[in-house]
Amino acid sequence: MKKNLKEVLTPTQIVAELNKFIIGQEDAKVAVAIALRNRWRRQQVEGSLKDEILPNNIILIGPTGVGKTEIARRLANLAKAPFVKVEASKYTEVGYVGRDVESMIRDLADIAVNMVKAERTEEVKSRAVELADERILDMLIPPIKKPAIPNGEENGEQNDEVYQNQKTREWMRFKLKNGELDEKMIEFDTTQPAMGMQILGPLGGDDLGINLQDMMSSMLPKKKKKRKTNIKEAREIIADEEAQKLIDIDAVQKEAVQRVENTGIVFIDEIDKIAGSSGKGHGPDVSREGVQRDLLPIVEGSSVNTKYGVVKTDHILFIASGAFHIAKPSDLIPELQGRFPIRVELKSLTEEDFVKILTLPENALLKQYSALLQTEGVKVNFLDDGINEIANIAYQVNEEIENIGARRLHTILTTLLEDILFMVPDKMPDAEIRVNSQMVKEKLEKIVKNRDLSKYIL
Ligand SMILES: Nc1ncnc2c1ncn2[C@@H]1O[C@H](COP(=O)(O)OP(=O)(O)OP(=O)(O)O)[C@@H](O)[C@H]1O
Ligand SMILES: [Mg+2]
Repeated sequence: MKKNLKEVLTPTQIVAELNKFIIGQEDAKVAVAIALRNRWRRQQVEGSLKDEILPNNIILIGPTGVGKTEIARRLANLAKAPFVKVEASKYTEVGYVGRDVESMIRDLADIAVNMVKAERTEEVKSRAVELADERILDMLIPPIKKPAIPNGEENGEQNDEVYQNQKTREWMRFKLKNGELDEKMIEFDTTQPAMGMQILGPLGGDDLGINLQDMMSSMLPKKKKKRKTNIKEAREIIADEEAQKLIDIDAVQKEAVQRVENTGIVFIDEIDKIAGSSGKGHGPDVSREGVQRDLLPIVEGSSVNTKYGVVKTDHILFIASGAFHIAKPSDLIPELQGRFPIRVELKSLTEEDFVKILTLPENALLKQYSALLQTEGVKVNFLDDGINEIANIAYQVNEEIENIGARRLHTILTTLLEDILFMVPDKMPDAEIRVNSQMVKEKLEKIVKNRDLSKYIL
């Protein structure tokens, strides 16, 4: 059960992957890439030194809309480790109604269990499909019980019958595997865990640490339920069921807990929202500091009860991020500041960055709009001068009104393309649209020039 080491990306590979989606912000990319790779490096260290190597938690600081959350989202796909992204503002101090911070570790454990389960399921998949096919065959052509006396005069006929039965099964098995029976309907039993009670109210299953629903359903007998689907779907459902029987769930949970402890990553977004702001009157302040205090032991290393057992948090990597435009990192309680030794600043985006963000990432906005209009048979051509103009206007509006980073591009593009998106396909005779600087200016100049208008529209 050795993990495929080749799958663990090197720092430069991680940065290269992030580059596909995020423009600039090199410092942040490098910091997270090192932190990620260090998890793997630590795993390779022998002996007791391994336990001494603690993760260097990171805090990403930067204005709004410059890619902090985006980095987290993309990192999630690369980590190949249990990864959870949480919002600090969602938590409340222990004792208050709401989610307590420990639940982030429980979420991480859930994710890890699903991850390991998916891997194990993949491993037993072909075996599970075999078993499923046999079950379906049994339904289509029930096997004949072997005759009690193998060879006797009067059994000749029965032996013949058994032989025929086996031949037919063979033939059906072939058809089944070939997908020739896919459309045929079939009724079959599935064992579904009996529906547990939904537990609502202030004590959500979350606060209890143990999921009552899971407990209930494991106590109640598994209910059989009849289902009717076509054979194609039935094969999938039954194979799934067989796979669950083949994997050892205890081993899965044990492995999951281990992975959480050694490679788990928690990304705490919006951490500035729990920093006591220097300005007053920013919403209810009751438990912000309380949340920070609750967070402290988890980041420092403590034991958290989950339904899969105790999880030690010593080696979990925490990456926090926040805009910190009202509160400052120094507004966090000192102990917590100390838990995040690496601070990385993300920079404000420039006009050139905007040009790149519009065009380069795999999910670039212009690509998105082109794809949308393509579905109507309309081709949009974003010409270079048009793109430059959009970037220029975004930058200008950010400077003059409020800097919301790359999010400004969204608002500008929706305004720019609204007419087109509305008129297509009914009132747009030409199948090709050219977005050049003249067109951008025509559509947006009036709004940009008028501060009051742009405040509302852009
Ligand atoms: N450097 C960048 N490269 C590419 N796209 C970016 C970049 N920065 C921001 N974006 C785009 O802008 C959007 C908003 O960015 P993101 O959610 O990362 O902001 P943020 O830094 O987390 O801001 P906030 O502090 O408000 O949460 C993203 O969906 C992304 O498409
Ligand atoms: Mg964000």
